[in-house]
Amino acid sequence: MKFSIAPLKSLAVLRSDALIVFLHQPGGACGLVEAAAVDAIAAEAVHDGDFSGALGSTYLRQRPAGLAARRLVLVGLGPAPVGAAAWSKAIGAAAAALKGVGAEQVHLLAADGEASLAELAPRAFGAAAYRYTATRAADAKDAYRVASVQVLARRGQAALKNALARAEAVAAGVALARDTANLPGNHGTPTRLARIAQDLGKRHAVKVEVLDRDAMRRLGMGALLAVAQGSVQPPRFIVLRYDGATRRDAPHVLVGKGVTFDSGGISLKPGAEMDEMKFDMSGAASVLGCFEAVARLRLRLNLVGLIPATENMPDGGAVKPGDVVTGMSGQTIEILNTDAEGRLILSDALTYAERFKPACVIDIATLTGACVIALGHVHSGLFSTDDALAEALLSAGREAQDTCWRMPLDEAYAEGLKSGFADVANIAGRAAGSVTAACFLQRFTKAYRWAHLDIAGTAWKSGADKGATGRPVTLLVQYLLAQQAPQAR
Ligand code: BES
Ligand code: MN
Ligand code: ZN
Repeated sequence: MKFSIAPLKSLAVLRSDALIVFLHQPGGACGLVEAAAVDAIAAEAVHDGDFSGALGSTYLRQRPAGLAARRLVLVGLGPAPVGAAAWSKAIGAAAAALKGVGAEQVHLLAADGEASLAELAPRAFGAAAYRYTATRAADAKDAYRVASVQVLARRGQAALKNALARAEAVAAGVALARDTANLPGNHGTPTRLARIAQDLGKRHAVKVEVLDRDAMRRLGMGALLAVAQGSVQPPRFIVLRYDGATRRDAPHVLVGKGVTFDSGGISLKPGAEMDEMKFDMSGAASVLGCFEAVARLRLRLNLVGLIPATENMPDGGAVKPGDVVTGMSGQTIEILNTDAEGRLILSDALTYAERFKPACVIDIATLTGACVIALGHVHSGLFSTDDALAEALLSAGREAQDTCWRMPLDEAYAEGLKSGFADVANIAGRAAGSVTAACFLQRFTKAYRWAHLDIAGTAWKSGADKGATGRPVTLLVQYLLAQQAPQAR
């Protein structure tokens, strides 16, 4: 899909398959001299009771009088002032209104919302057009026909073009994260994740290195290897590097949990909805999505991506409850529950991250069912003892409308991780499960500023529209945008 900004001229001659106009409630007039014909139609629709201007409501008119467009779509913004969330909802409704409609070239017009349209259109239209096709034919009947979206603007075109380019890059990152996370377990293997990373390296200025089991052994990654030993799929440790600043600039490091299928291992999960554990590499997918966006935007910063990738399976060679392993940090870990595997593979990746002397490390993981109980599907869980980093992530999430919520990380929660047989156990009791998981990770992050995002509730949707959401790519790119080195003059 192509996005662009075009100057607003007479709508009587604007050739368009669908002119989409955003209108306030009540009255439903946009008041632009260029759009008198639109206001006349809106007044009719309001009078007839077909359109109210309520937030997210839409009305479609074929061959509208006085306009050269084939279709006019009115979209309600609700009462003024329109906040960011309302804009998202309205633009989402506009994009959804074109499902099953033949329009290919569409135009967007809002009297006072050009900036919002530029910022939000790629996300909304990208979401409406998204189809998973890796292992399934694209259904002709639910095809989304929109091929180009032009935002009609009266002023500030250069700034709008920047905002649009930024949003397009983020949308591409979200789409890559969704495509990756949606892959079924037998397709989205550790080897496949490595290939997706390598493809990214071919398309962009991103260096990719893939470590195999032998390399992990040499590094002493005993925790990652313990999880991998129950699977016939070989594990991979994927390292991505994007250098957009000088060599002296400390890199930001993103670590993504890449469990390509989580059966629970010997501590086997119950059968219901176990298929959804193919999404247990959504953290890894979000790291790949961030690299897609950051490389497209050529951000002025250095970025490292680390993806420990493995299946978690039960077999004769699998790690067992009670086994004690030594991770790369040298700490011994008693694996009391093989289903708490994410923290094991992350612990080795977090130790590996030390070699980069990072500006900060953020790990992203579908880590605990307990986080879903605590926060549902609205906010991702945020854990950090670094207040400045936590605040920066919270506000990036609000700005990007991809929110997280800070959770506690007091030392008292770590009590339950004590073990009589190792330096630490991989589980504590049932209470505060997402916090004790974060406490476990924290033991491996002493060398740098660190935050942890538990995306167990936000990375995918269940039910009729089951599928990956691409969260929290938008949040992370928003955060990284603010971390750039000053512009060279
Ligand atoms: N991948 C799961 C977490 C998960 C569960 C995410 C359900 C989304 C939905 C993780 O590996 C896991 O199994 N965690 C256990 C930890 C427990 C054994 C301490 C959990 O949450 O039950
Ligand atoms: Mn698990
Ligand atoms: Zn898991």
